[in-house]
Amino acid sequence: MELSRLVVVSNRVAVPDPTGKGSAGGLAVALREAFQAYQGIWFGWSGKVAAHPSSQPKLVDKERVQYALMDLTSLDRQEYYNGFANRALWPIMHYRIGLSEFSRADYAGYLRVNRTFATALAQMVRPDDLVWVHDYHLIPLAAEMRALGLTNRIGYFHHIPWPAPEVLGTLPGSRELLRAITDYDLVGMQTDRDADNLRRALMQEFGAAQRKADIVDLGERQTRVKGYPIGIDVRGFEQAAQRSGNHRIVRQTAAGLGSRQLIIGVDRLDYSKGIPERMEAFERFLIGNPDQRGRVTYLQITPTSRSEVPEYATLSRVVNETLGRINGSLGEPGWVPIHYVNSTYPRSVLAGLHRLAKVGLVTPMRDGMNLVAKEYVAAQNPEDPGVLVLSKFAGAAQQLTDALIVNPNDKFEVAEAIRDALYMDRTERITRWERMMNAIRETDVSWWAATFLRDLSGNKSLGRTRT
Ligand code: G6P
Repeated sequence: MELSRLVVVSNRVAVPDPTGKGSAGGLAVALREAFQAYQGIWFGWSGKVAAHPSSQPKLVDKERVQYALMDLTSLDRQEYYNGFANRALWPIMHYRIGLSEFSRADYAGYLRVNRTFATALAQMVRPDDLVWVHDYHLIPLAAEMRALGLTNRIGYFHHIPWPAPEVLGTLPGSRELLRAITDYDLVGMQTDRDADNLRRALMQEFGAAQRKADIVDLGERQTRVKGYPIGIDVRGFEQAAQRSGNHRIVRQTAAGLGSRQLIIGVDRLDYSKGIPERMEAFERFLIGNPDQRGRVTYLQITPTSRSEVPEYATLSRVVNETLGRINGSLGEPGWVPIHYVNSTYPRSVLAGLHRLAKVGLVTPMRDGMNLVAKEYVAAQNPEDPGVLVLSKFAGAAQQLTDALIVNPNDKFEVAEAIRDALYMDRTERITRWERMMNAIRETDVSWWAATFLRDLSGNKSLGRTRT
């Protein structure tokens, strides 16, 4: 008799920190519960570079989970992570064909790291284990594992958008990636639209047939492709927001605001998030509503990200220029329109800042789901909630239909939504907020992990002992 284990694989691995508080990352929170039910291994890149990395992972046991960490060479990091994953695939997946830089060497590096990971995993995985692979860095992993003879159930969850077949088709190597994805038994997407895009691509490229609503049949293999909108730990975030009042940064922010209204944006520094576009929409709002000058503050919290990738360095310059121009032209002694900070804050502080904000601006040009939208809603005070302004191109817009939905390419429209949000009466704010809370509670993070794993395991209950 052997317990069926859960083996999670992702590029980044959230090992709990030495203080035992655990990582604040969404995936870490999502998997914590799944690991309560299953014995688990979490395998992936250590984040470190070594001249001669071991072919075996370093093992760290913590809180019922075994973390298996692989180092990479600096060439691996350059080609696999900075290169193919983040310079070629990421922009294509976000519909930015013009930003995608394909290189054969990078693609070879991407395949090489996937093969290295598969080889190391093959030594650890038992025949009964469920394997759950996460995100675009690892699309070929199942194919590499199958090539080594593994017959486990292997699932894949894609955290970012999956574009229309015409967009994906512009990427050299995309046909091979599509072929590789059919080596998974179950492929999870953030939205039904993304799932439909992938199924259409498989049908167009390989003449696959669609069986039932979500099963694609390629003759020798059947792959299920389905939407599983990822959620947050709603209860945990609500509680963090309620308790956040004592936090120094939250207190100082509240004190600094005085009677001004706070508008908030929280995003990694990434061109998919629409940060300069959002700043210009706020500028437009101030120009169109001069009475609001000095009465609102827009706080944009933006940790830097992937700074070795040239397009991200360019974005950083563009944001700084946009910010400087707007603050210079519209600011006054004693009032800075946009506060921009690059620090990373713990979840508890973000929850408190969200709760202070009358408006949450979540206006990505494209986003798989966008958990900040859900966190903003969860953090609100039920008696006096703020208003979410949400891009129609975030996966979250399919669920949070009571947000003010905008097209982020239209700064006039976003400016109007900011105005509508600031002027919205309390009754309407409460009605909209309650509906959004119901939506995020229904598909919270435990629902997401349990539903995906139930489908992957073919309905076996979590942690069940198999003979
Ligand atoms: C997105 C991706 C994740 C990734 C995260 C941070 O959310 O879906 O897979 O971990 O961005 O990006 P980074 O490159 O720092 O891991």
